[in-house]
Amino acid sequence: RLGKSLVVAVDGPSGSGKSSISKAVARRLGLAFLDTGAMYRALTWHCLNGRINLENAAAVEAAARTVKIEQSLTPDGDFVRVNGINVTGPIREPDISKAVSAVATNLGARRELVRRQQEIIAQCGSRIVVEGRDITTVVAPRAEARLILTASEEARLRRRGLQLGGSQTQAQLREQVVGRDAKDATVVDFQRAADGVYTVDSSELDFEETVDAVINVVRRSVNEG
Ligand code: DC
Repeated sequence: RLGKSLVVAVDGPSGSGKSSISKAVARRLGLAFLDTGAMYRALTWHCLNGRINLENAAAVEAAARTVKIEQSLTPDGDFVRVNGINVTGPIREPDISKAVSAVATNLGARRELVRRQQEIIAQCGSRIVVEGRDITTVVAPRAEARLILTASEEARLRRRGLQLGGSQTQAQLREQVVGRDAKDATVVDFQRAADGVYTVDSSELDFEETVDAVINVVRRSVNEG
């Protein structure tokens, strides 16, 4: 079976546990791993760092075309570099989280990042878990397994709160989780599963149970396909 294509496409809202679950699934299945959100974050960091006005759609698109983004493609690695600068920590900071929707709603920038994502999938021999918002529909609509990972708003707020170490008020959390999803949903619909896309709801599942549920979806999809 080695060498056979196995692209696992995972979409879902923020706070659904997408990243950590997708990494664990990649580890279990021996697949590469691509965090596409990190690319939108890296481009946002690059624009802010270079004083590129995020409202200037043409400038942001041009930046997307020229910026060099390098990132780890394994579930155990964790680095992102922009034009050689290590931005692994900075792209997770609140200023980036706040600004990233302006970049993610730029259709020209999306086109370029989607093209790069498809190139990365090919470079990994199409044996990869890819995580984001438009993977099941735009980046890899023909993936062997496609699923949306969801969780109730309550569960997502709780998890993001824990992740941030209780440093945020409930209102700040809500703005980050629900507010950002609402902005992002204007360009990609990641809340509803497209035809042939499975849904895994993790609200009532712990981490290992969620990983098992995703692996089951992958097995079922491969057997159907
Ligand atoms: O998953 P994340 O929070 O790191 O994503 C960062 C931002 O990028 C978020 O606002 C949604 C957007 N995004 C997107 O529009 N399409 C993707 N495939 C991945 C992320």
